[in-house]
Amino acid sequence: MGDTLTITHGDDSLSAEISQGTIRATELKKIVTPDGPLATYDPGLVNTASVKSSITYIDGEAGILEYRGYPVEQLAEHSTFLEVAYLLIHGDLPTADQLAVWEDEVNHHRLVHENASQVIESLRYDAHPMGKLMSGVASMQTFYPDARNINDPVARHENIVRLLGKMPTLAAWAYRHSVGWRRVYPSDELNYVENFLAMLFQMQERLYRPDPRLSRALEVLFILHADHEQNCSTNVVRAVASADNDIYTSCGAGVGALFGPLHGGANEAVLRMLREIGSLDRVPEFVAGVKSGKARLMGFGHRVYKNYDPRAKVIRQAVDDVFSVTGVNPLLQIAVELEKIALSDEYFTSRRLYPNVDFYSGLIYEALHFPPAMFTVLFAVPRTAGWAAQWLEGVLDPEQKITRPKQIYTGERRRDYVNIDNR
Ligand code: CMC
Repeated sequence: MGDTLTITHGDDSLSAEISQGTIRATELKKIVTPDGPLATYDPGLVNTASVKSSITYIDGEAGILEYRGYPVEQLAEHSTFLEVAYLLIHGDLPTADQLAVWEDEVNHHRLVHENASQVIESLRYDAHPMGKLMSGVASMQTFYPDARNINDPVARHENIVRLLGKMPTLAAWAYRHSVGWRRVYPSDELNYVENFLAMLFQMQERLYRPDPRLSRALEVLFILHADHEQNCSTNVVRAVASADNDIYTSCGAGVGALFGPLHGGANEAVLRMLREIGSLDRVPEFVAGVKSGKARLMGFGHRVYKNYDPRAKVIRQAVDDVFSVTGVNPLLQIAVELEKIALSDEYFTSRRLYPNVDFYSGLIYEALHFPPAMFTVLFAVPRTAGWAAQWLEGVLDPEQKITRPKQIYTGERRRDYVNIDNR
């Protein structure tokens, strides 16, 4: 007999098997309360496992992040973004031949249908690029209706590589539309990340070639952002997919979830916060405001990590590498001072609030000349690899059910309609 949880309630009792630290929530229904079968109330799903997944492992206490068992630090040092995307989606690192085919397939799909560019360009030029990206991704389903055949392995594969290929193009075009520059088309002479930078920043030169140190820094950021198990946007992707939706519809919703300032929008919020603080002497006043509840220290704290976010450590190193090329951003001093104070202040230490992935990434994006509104877009492009892997895992999971949580109803009960003259 394995580990079991026994609950008794009046005359009812249940003995639920504990497997991998969880019980089946439906077991609780065996206990009947005056309000119906027993359930749990879990706002934000902070203590509820919604899926079984073999993609990403996180130990938040120890600050460990692994993709398919490989530590993210090793991948950031040795791998490329497309290799990591392959790993997440297929479950293992590719051989040289498999990688060559994969890169070729994804890069082949970088071009986007001209009508999709009109979807983006029909929006206001100053609309937030995440809004443009969300529309662009969702519109892909209308160009590739075969994506709805989620039970067809060929259609699944084809649309995964399409989405990975087109994401940087849509993101770059969303940016160029906002600054009024003509679109730049993908180039076969450049790799995934270099090509993305070229589609963003190429001006009149025949072929834009980014500084390899800067494109490598962006590649490292892409690797670090590729997946993060059941975070808000991934949960959204899987919930939308659970209704048997295609990858574009599911990931379009994921882009929307990521937009939120408590999620992917935090990197943009960090930069705005550093600018608002403006100088080193104003840091103590800002920290006092955070402690009294006036503001949040953006880029700090995490639902899962109660230790230094392992991604933030790698990014902190990349900041120095990038600044050695671009020159130091004066906001770095403010960030370092904020971190120093926060890591020694009882308010933050007692709540176990440490820098997360977003604390330093915005400084790199700014050094690469991205405006803050593009920061979350730079999160969405690589996170697409994780969303695709999670979407696929859900589609293939025989236990996947349409997501449909319970609620605790707190409103009025049956009332008779009152004519408007009598209210
Ligand atoms: N600044 C000040 N206080 C904070 C912060 C912060 N950044 N984060 C948490 N706290 C406090 C919070 O007020 C609460 O205090 P108390 O117990 O006195 O009420 C306590 O810490 C626990 O916070 P919580 O809001 O219950 O924690 P959560 O797990 O629900 O929230 C979080 C996690 C990431 C939303 C939150 O830490 C936060 O808002 N951080 C700032 C935004 C941010 O950087 N988000 C990026 C997250 S990493 C990338 C990603 O996932 O997209």
